[in-house]
Amino acid sequence: MSYNLLKGKRGIIFGALDENSIAWKTAELAHAEGATFVLTNAPIAMRMGTINELAEKTGSQIIPADATSLEDLENLISQSVEILGGKLDFVLHSIGMSVNVRKGKAYTNQNYDWTQKGWDVSAVSFHKVMQTLYKQDAMSEWGSILALTYMAAQRTFPDYNDMADNKAYLESIARSFGYFFGKDKKVRVNTISQSPTPTTAGQGVKGFDGFISYAEKMSPLGNATAQECAEYSITLFSDYTKKVTMQNLFHDGGFSNTGVSQEVIEKF
Ligand code: NAI
Repeated sequence: MSYNLLKGKRGIIFGALDENSIAWKTAELAHAEGATFVLTNAPIAMRMGTINELAEKTGSQIIPADATSLEDLENLISQSVEILGGKLDFVLHSIGMSVNVRKGKAYTNQNYDWTQKGWDVSAVSFHKVMQTLYKQDAMSEWGSILALTYMAAQRTFPDYNDMADNKAYLESIARSFGYFFGKDKKVRVNTISQSPTPTTAGQGVKGFDGFISYAEKMSPLGNATAQECAEYSITLFSDYTKKVTMQNLFHDGGFSNTGVSQEVIEKF
């Protein structure tokens, strides 16, 4: 069912790798809700993923960009405004990667070159995206910028490794830039803190199966799916959430406010 919530809105969607990606589901739904947008991902992900299929389905153009490269971002944003025929109403940053996680380095034995790469890709890239949007004055008034995060930014999940620190950094950037984007451009900036979700990035976390089952049993409403995350994101791009900004919004079936659940107690 579609409500035309994004009728006439223009945007950029980062991070659709394959059909499991949260960004993929968001792109499908944004299209169904009447938006037009440009799809983007890192050049290497273009070769690994299936983004062409999504572009065809949603009538979108693809512009490759490494989200850590200012040059790529400048090109992406100016070209998107041109292709879409006007300033942008929404931007989704759905990007995360830790080299330490990928290569199995423990939190207590980091390779700091990899740590740095991880925060550049997962957190500072959000600043770079926003700074480029800001400098090019590429956002429409009452536009909405959104990034995805995880609760390990607030509470310790040992296997989440340095991604926990990257997410804390990301959430802080959303608040800090949200102030300036709000004051100067009437644009809102938020993060959604999503349940564990079986995607390429999610499944990279050690012990993911146990992690996701535990969260499922702890959440009164159960884990939020990628599709449900897309649905929530669309409301944040719509005109019905104009004064929501600088927030970290938990989308997790109640997990973050649950101390313990009956199902978990019964396990002991
Ligand atoms: P995914 O693996 O489908 O998406 C991650 C994307 O980041 C990929 O498309 C990848 O190509 C892109 N990316 C990596 N390096 C990049 C770079 N240098 N430039 C541009 N793009 C780059 O996984 P998922 O789960 O859809 O991830 C989306 C977001 O959701 C991430 O921020 C992730 O941390 C967050 N998240 C995921 C959860 C999960 O359990 N899957 C839970 C909470 C948040």
